[in-house]
Amino acid sequence: MKKLQIQGVGGLSTILVGEPLKNLTHYLPTQHPVIITDENVGQRYADQFPPGHVITIGTGEGIKTLETISRIYSELVAIEADRSCSIVGVGGGIVCDMAGFVASTYLRGVRFGFVATTLLAQVDASVGGKNGVNFGGYKNMVGTFNQPEFVLCDLKMLHSLPETQLQCGFAEIVKHAAIADAGMFEALEKDAEKALTLDPIVVERLVYDSLVIKSSFVNQDEKETGERRKLNFGHTFGHAIEKVTGIPHGQAVSVGMVLAAGLSQQRGLITAREKERLCALLEQLNLPTRMIFDKKAVLEALGKDKKRENESVHFVLLNGLGRAVITDISLAELRQLRDL
Ligand SMILES: NC(=O)c1ccc[n+]([C@@H]2O[C@H](COP(=O)([O-])OP(=O)(O)OC[C@H]3O[C@@H](n4cnc5c(N)ncnc54)[C@H](O)[C@@H]3O)[C@@H](O)[C@H]2O)c1
Ligand SMILES: [Zn+2]
Repeated sequence: MKKLQIQGVGGLSTILVGEPLKNLTHYLPTQHPVIITDENVGQRYADQFPPGHVITIGTGEGIKTLETISRIYSELVAIEADRSCSIVGVGGGIVCDMAGFVASTYLRGVRFGFVATTLLAQVDASVGGKNGVNFGGYKNMVGTFNQPEFVLCDLKMLHSLPETQLQCGFAEIVKHAAIADAGMFEALEKDAEKALTLDPIVVERLVYDSLVIKSSFVNQDEKETGERRKLNFGHTFGHAIEKVTGIPHGQAVSVGMVLAAGLSQQRGLITAREKERLCALLEQLNLPTRMIFDKKAVLEALGKDKKRENESVHFVLLNGLGRAVITDISLAELRQLRDL
């Protein structure tokens, strides 16, 4: 087990990588935990939950709404949960985002923690203090910044994840290495096979290294004004591709990283060989590196509110493998991107 502590604005957050769900009782901040989970996770793992009230929500991005939050508040009121209760989200990014929002707002805030059960939640959603819900068709429109007191990453639970869910996590892991840690990138190239089979030593190190990187960016910039934006590497194209094609987030980010690497190469920031290494690593992890999509629709989604050719979009580029820079790129330059 590896332990990491993050000092956020709201307090200290302790992350335990490789700590099993059954040890959750050791970390509960109060005697009266209320567990928020989803149907899939509850069905598989409820027998390992500590004693306490369990609130089960549905699955899918469609339930990440204020209506679901309202239902959770009603259930908390019905069981007379007071400020002596704590909330533990046991699930993926959706459960964590919603449990964090409920805990930050119910009775003006109660203590809370997470058991992150997807690879994406472990390496990304569970740290950084962002939580909230979608609203009016927009993702994560309503929410708060508030760090959980603790996060348990039970690596064994990853074995029941569907393949596309693992891919989403691996895409973020590659992203972290590419923007911040050339050594981790190299290690990942060597251990990709083992990572795919969820070798416990390799996965523990990857999750831990990823968290160190994400938390260091978040610590420097908790409210996302500068450094934290580097975590959006691959996501500018990725979000646009996801929106236009509907492919899973991790796959879209993977293709987005390759496109951003292409821009980096076009600007002389990385070599052709470095871009090839990124592509080869993504392929080793069964992630797509290119796909056919409606180029015009993707550029439109990307430049949403930009009306003129010389208007620019904030972009994260690589400045060598393991380093990122933020640059403004005009729509005109994006249109000329060779790989697009
Ligand atoms: N707060 C942040 O900083 C942040 C960062 C990245 C993503 N997110 C959010 O996270 C969400 C996506 O998270 P996600 O990819 O974890 O999706 P998710 O929470 O929907 O989980 C994916 C699916 O896997 C199931 N599942 C979870 N754990 C499982 C397990 N151990 N075994 C089997 N099935 C399991 C879930 O029931 C669900 O069907 C998005 O809403 C996104 O906005 C937030
Ligand atoms: Zn992402």
